[in-house]
Amino acid sequence: MADANRDTRASQRDLVRRGYDAISRAYRNDEGRADGATENGTERYKGWVDELAQLIPPPARVLDLGCGAGVPATKLMTDKGFDVLGLDISAVQIERARRLVPTATFQQADMVTWEHEPASFDAVVSFYALIHVPLEDQRNLLPKIRSWLRPAGYLLAIVGAERWTGVEDYYGAAMFWDHADRATYLVWLTEAGLVPLWHRFVPEGRVGHTLVMAQAM
Ligand SMILES: C[S@@+](CC[C@H](N)C(=O)[O-])C[C@H]1O[C@@H](n2cnc3c(N)ncnc32)[C@H](O)[C@@H]1O
Repeated sequence: MADANRDTRASQRDLVRRGYDAISRAYRNDEGRADGATENGTERYKGWVDELAQLIPPPARVLDLGCGAGVPATKLMTDKGFDVLGLDISAVQIERARRLVPTATFQQADMVTWEHEPASFDAVVSFYALIHVPLEDQRNLLPKIRSWLRPAGYLLAIVGAERWTGVEDYYGAAMFWDHADRATYLVWLTEAGLVPLWHRFVPEGRVGHTLVMAQAM
């Protein structure tokens, strides 16, 4: 008998894939700015990339999970000298990323089903992408992320701050999100062998997310 829960989760991830295929340019133009935004948020990402570079000096190898069109984050990392592999489920995002950030390499894949050899990366980053993955898949992904990291490698990720799940209109497309609360993420990370070093609240309008830095132990 088919696993209904598994099928539901696959269709939720597929909704996200179709959504970003449709809204790629509205979410970020080629300069990395969202429709209607007065700033592109580059400063925020730049600070995060600088913090990562203090822990793992370039040309360390970094996996960018849910890299989108590669701007601004993947580009900032390659400009810094990191050797970056970007992964995204959306073909449109990956096609744009290859054009906008020719110094990185990219693969179109679902991070949930993606396989890779262990101990391949000094760091894994994931900005605003894990929160589009169904929670059960997020939890199951953490030990895989741990396996892709070299010993003492780092995970820098935006995750949820409060429990929330839903499908809402996003730039004109139906979009799925799934957030656990901060305390749950910290437990899941620790259980996966990714020890949280610090975490902080990143505000966004009236809500926000958690930025967490964890280290593979
Ligand atoms: C909000 S965008 C963030 C893009 C980029 N990280 C940034 O911060 O600008 C989320 C990205 O995650 C990707 N994504 C969502 N679920 C994914 C999955 N299961 N596997 C791979 N990529 C996924 C989406 O296609 C989208 O490009």
